[in-house]
Amino acid sequence: ITGPPTSWTARLTAPGIAVHSIRTEVHVVTPAELAGAVATLRGGGVVAFPTETVYGLGADAANDAAVAHVFALKGRPADHPLIVHIRSAAELSDWTAEVPPVALRLAARFWLGPLTLILPKAPHVSRVVTGGQDSIGIRVPAHPVAQALLSAFGGGIAAPSANRYGRVSATCAGHIREEFGDAVPVVLDGGEAAIGIESTIISCLGNVVRLLRPGRITRSAVEQELGPLPAAAAAGPVPRASGDRLQHYAPATPLRLVERDGLLPLVQQYLAAGGSVAVLALQPAPAPLPRVTWLAAADEPAGYAHQLYAQLRELDRLHGSVILVEAPPAGEAWGAVHDRLGRASAAADAGAVA
Ligand code: TXA
Ligand code: MG
Repeated sequence: ITGPPTSWTARLTAPGIAVHSIRTEVHVVTPAELAGAVATLRGGGVVAFPTETVYGLGADAANDAAVAHVFALKGRPADHPLIVHIRSAAELSDWTAEVPPVALRLAARFWLGPLTLILPKAPHVSRVVTGGQDSIGIRVPAHPVAQALLSAFGGGIAAPSANRYGRVSATCAGHIREEFGDAVPVVLDGGEAAIGIESTIISCLGNVVRLLRPGRITRSAVEQELGPLPAAAAAGPVPRASGDRLQHYAPATPLRLVERDGLLPLVQQYLAAGGSVAVLALQPAPAPLPRVTWLAAADEPAGYAHQLYAQLRELDRLHGSVILVEAPPAGEAWGAVHDRLGRASAAADAGAVA
C-alpha cells in the first residue's frame, strides 16, 4: 500500500471536524505482510493494526476463541465489549438487527472515520464479542492499512485499543512491541496514528442518539448533522462502556492535572521533597532544573491529541515521582483531551495507582 492517504486526509478535514493540522507519514505495508496478517486472522490469531485513532488488537470477530484471546492478552474483563471493525457501511447488516435512520445519517457523514456506533446486534452475533450485551459497537476505520486488512480478510475484525487493560492506548507500532513483546508477534506498522485518541462513541439504540465517549468528532459536529441532541439526562439509561470506569487510560506513574499558575510551585514542592518530576505543559520550560523532565504540549487540540499518548508513555518510562500535566484550555474542541486527562488523573486522585 503506497502513496499519500488522500481520501482519509480529506475526511479528517471535512467541515464540522476540527481542522487537522497533523502531517503524519503512513508507512507502507508489503503484500507479504498483509497476507501474513490475514493468515493469522484466519487461523484464529491476533494481529495489531493501525487505525487513524489508535492501534487495535484485532481478531476474527466471528471466532469466539480468537476474540477470547484478545480479552486474555489485554487482561480485560469479559463483560467489556469490543468494537467490530468493518470495511464499509454496506456490511452493517451482517452485524446488526436494525440500523435506525439516525445511525445511517451518522454513518454517511462520518465514515470512513473516527466514529463508533452502538446498534442492536444481529441474532447470530456471539455475545463473546459484545461482552454479553445485545448491542454491538461498529466502526469503519479510515486508515488505508486498516482498510486493506479488512478488504483482504473479508470479515469483521473485533479490536479494542492495543494496550493492557486500563493503560494508555498505543499510537505507533513501537508502543505495542513495548507493551506486548512476543505475545503479539504480528504488528502491521502504519506509522503514527494521526488522531491519537480513541473514536467518538455514539449509541443509536432505540433511535435515540447518546454520546458515550468524546473524540475528534464533537457533539457540535454531530448536531450539525442531526440537529440538537437531547441532554444526557433526558436520554434515559446509558449503555455500558468500559471507558466509563474512571481508572482508564492511565500511565503507571501517578498523573496530576494542574492549572497553569499552580504548575511551577508544585514542581518545586516535589523537588523539595526529594522527588523527580515529569511535566507535560503548554507553558515554556523554565531554566533546566535537575530531576525535572519537561515536554512541550501542542497548543491546539488536534496536535495535542496526536502526541498525547506517546508523550505520556515517554514520561511514564522515567519512573519519576509524578507526571504533572498543565490543564489545557477549556472549550469543546479540547473536550476529548480533557476526558482522557481526567481519566488518567483519576487513579492518582483516588490514591489508588494500579
Ligand atoms: O478508536 C477506537 O475506538 C479504537 C480503535 C482500535 O478502533 N478502539 C477502542 O476500543 O478504543 P476499546 O475497546 O479500547 O474501547 C471501546 C469502547 C469500550 O469502552 C467499550 O465498552 C465500548 O467501546 N463499547 C463497545 N461495544 C459496546 C456496546 N455494545 N455498548 C456499549 N459500549 C460499547
Ligand atoms: Mg481502550
